[in-house]
Amino acid sequence: MIAPDFWSIPDRKLTSTELAEKTTTLKQRLTEIASRFSDIRFATSLAAEDMVITDAIAQSKANIQLFTLATGRLHQETVDMTKTTENHYGISIAKVYPEESDIQAFIDQYGMNGFYDGEVAKKACCGARKIKPLNAALLGADAWLTGQRREQSTTRVELNFEELDDARGIAKFNPLFDWNESDIWTYIKQEDVPIHPLHLKGYPSIGCEPCTRQVKQGEDIRAGRWWWLQSDSKECGLHINK
Ligand code: ADX
Ligand code: SF4
Repeated sequence: MIAPDFWSIPDRKLTSTELAEKTTTLKQRLTEIASRFSDIRFATSLAAEDMVITDAIAQSKANIQLFTLATGRLHQETVDMTKTTENHYGISIAKVYPEESDIQAFIDQYGMNGFYDGEVAKKACCGARKIKPLNAALLGADAWLTGQRREQSTTRVELNFEELDDARGIAKFNPLFDWNESDIWTYIKQEDVPIHPLHLKGYPSIGCEPCTRQVKQGEDIRAGRWWWLQSDSKECGLHINK
């Protein structure tokens, strides 16, 4: 049983009509992307936002391939959630692993959990376990999708539906950019979307195990991510476009 002072899944706030409008728009966004590009890939972390997009892709039958960055430091619950999602939707999610040599180089220089020592080591770890694999996962793609939302962070307030990923020279879409937390959870409850078990244990945002913890009620929803760093460092670089 989760302690009452931890974050918990918000109550449903939208009416059925409001949710239906949001859902229609989301599916139109996916259909639009699918009509403009041929090789589209969606990066899923298996957390709530990404499950909403997965559900909408499955429902709209948009031709979008899914992949997840299997960093080697994920919670077992996240690894299990990949299988749960594949079984639930009858889809396949590509697992993209880091290079052994990059991990070894990080460990040699900083130690396995060296990221706790500061921003430089954290950046190096995310570089090896997330960014380089992301680059590999997007090779040959025309466009990619993320589950980012404006409301999630001060670093995301200017997010748009469509952006140019300058680093990779392809289009990048954030189909939930204008959704709020309660929109996400209303959709999940309404559509019976599988829920990552850590969301039931006080985790609103889920990344790698050593860098994610529960948050208290009323705390920032990303307060449990890299909690030992300043809030403007709480990005792993997956979404730095330049
Ligand atoms: S992070 O940059 O702080 O790690 P966050 O957890 O908010 O990102 O997730 C934002 C989006 O990044 C997700 O909706 C998803 O599209 C992508 N993402 C994050 N982690 C992963 C992962 N392990 N595998 C694939 N995509 C991911
Ligand atoms: Fe490494 Fe933590 Fe970044 Fe995962 S989130 S890649 S463990 S620093």
